[in-house]
Amino acid sequence: MRTVALPDTDTAAAWRDAARELLAERIPPDGVLWQYGAAESDLFATAPTPSTGGRTRVSRAFVDLAEAVCWHAEPERFARLYALLWRLADERSVMTDRGDAAVAKLREMEKSVYRDMHKMKAFLRFREIDATGSRRRFAAWFEPQHHIAEPSAAFFARRFGDMDWIIATPDRTVHFKDGEIALAPGQPRPPLLKDATEQLWTTYFRNIFNPARLKVKAMQSEMPRRYWKNMPEAAAIPDLIAGAEARAREMQRAAPTLAPARAAKITEQLSMTPTDTPAPGSLSALHQEAANCTRCPLHRNATQVVVGEGPRDAPLMVVGEQPGDQEDLAGRPFVGPAGQLFDRLAEEAGLDRDKAFVTNAVKHFKFQPRGKRRIHQKPDAGEVQACRWWLEAERRLIKPKLILAMGATAAMSLTGTGAGIMKRRGTFERTEDDTPVLLTLHPSYLLRVPNAAAKAAAERDFRADLTLAADWIARNAA
Ligand code: URA
Repeated sequence: MRTVALPDTDTAAAWRDAARELLAERIPPDGVLWQYGAAESDLFATAPTPSTGGRTRVSRAFVDLAEAVCWHAEPERFARLYALLWRLADERSVMTDRGDAAVAKLREMEKSVYRDMHKMKAFLRFREIDATGSRRRFAAWFEPQHHIAEPSAAFFARRFGDMDWIIATPDRTVHFKDGEIALAPGQPRPPLLKDATEQLWTTYFRNIFNPARLKVKAMQSEMPRRYWKNMPEAAAIPDLIAGAEARAREMQRAAPTLAPARAAKITEQLSMTPTDTPAPGSLSALHQEAANCTRCPLHRNATQVVVGEGPRDAPLMVVGEQPGDQEDLAGRPFVGPAGQLFDRLAEEAGLDRDKAFVTNAVKHFKFQPRGKRRIHQKPDAGEVQACRWWLEAERRLIKPKLILAMGATAAMSLTGTGAGIMKRRGTFERTEDDTPVLLTLHPSYLLRVPNAAAKAAAERDFRADLTLAADWIARNAA
């Protein structure tokens, strides 16, 4: 029996090296005992035999799967991965076999790791511990389900690169100082004092909490209870839920006494918000139903609804903001100047538009008439929210493997986060049902860049994001 002791940092790389060696030596899965938590990697915890075999090439899909699953908490993860790797030599298509139990189990583990990383990004709360130095210092405590502090560190370094911080978890502590990440063993919860951000989070949460829209189950599945104890704003939740019904009644009662213009808008929105209707079962049904949409006032002035188009089984969904002037007239998304620029850069990036489902976060053109021209206006949060119903219906039908969100409106609708798109572009986030979303800028932004050099640079960056999408699809959904 060969014993392989893997370190608890850089575990995925150590597993990969060890698995490669074991495979070259033709050591079968039941001849390996995997251990985790060694100070450093020790492939030869028991005596090695000189390697004789050649190298086996494995697909990118397996490499990515292994990279994620190595961070899972289940002790059997390394053995499961090695058993699948062993099979890959003879069963080359097993990775795409949806009925294979071993692959399905590993995919489920991969998903659980990604979900945990997503929750860490969404629910980790920094508290300031020192504001006296040249860089402000923060600390956070988080209790993940898996060993995800290390693979998540780069995200926090990018997002909070202008401050020093420590993220402590039970099995790993990440230090970020002067732009450098360092990993240390886990630790118990540090004594984190309340700070001003605590009150800010709670106030923000109280303000965005809408009692009339409360769905307790959905809220608890998006923000599971186990995270509450480390989130300042969560202390307000029981109170807000308990008072929701009364507050909603109070809001209804108070509505007619609001200023007339606002009251009229609210009444109109209430009358337009349909009770939950069943989602359409086909793209053509969706098109027909959307043509009669009155979920928000935008249908009044637009020529027609513009829904998405593309293959029903498209692995990639591309989401823009809303149809523009030409799209509104043609009834098709992305056919005007922004669409033509997108087509050119997509082609250069090796991304085939015809194989993608191309759509928008909002399905009607919003504009302000100026003389003979119709000037584009950004849809507001209520319009985006109202139209999310249609985007979700399209997602349910297409079931894309990856979504490319172009611009802040698409990003907001898909991830629920309105944070600055400039900082997030080129990164992957997730929808609430865990579909990966690659964020990029909207092509119309490129059309507005005034100087030629800046424009070329912006196009290059946009093309790089499209290449990322094309590569992801080639690796994961081809
Ligand atoms: N801009 C968009 O976001 N979508 C279109 O369809 C056209 C321009």
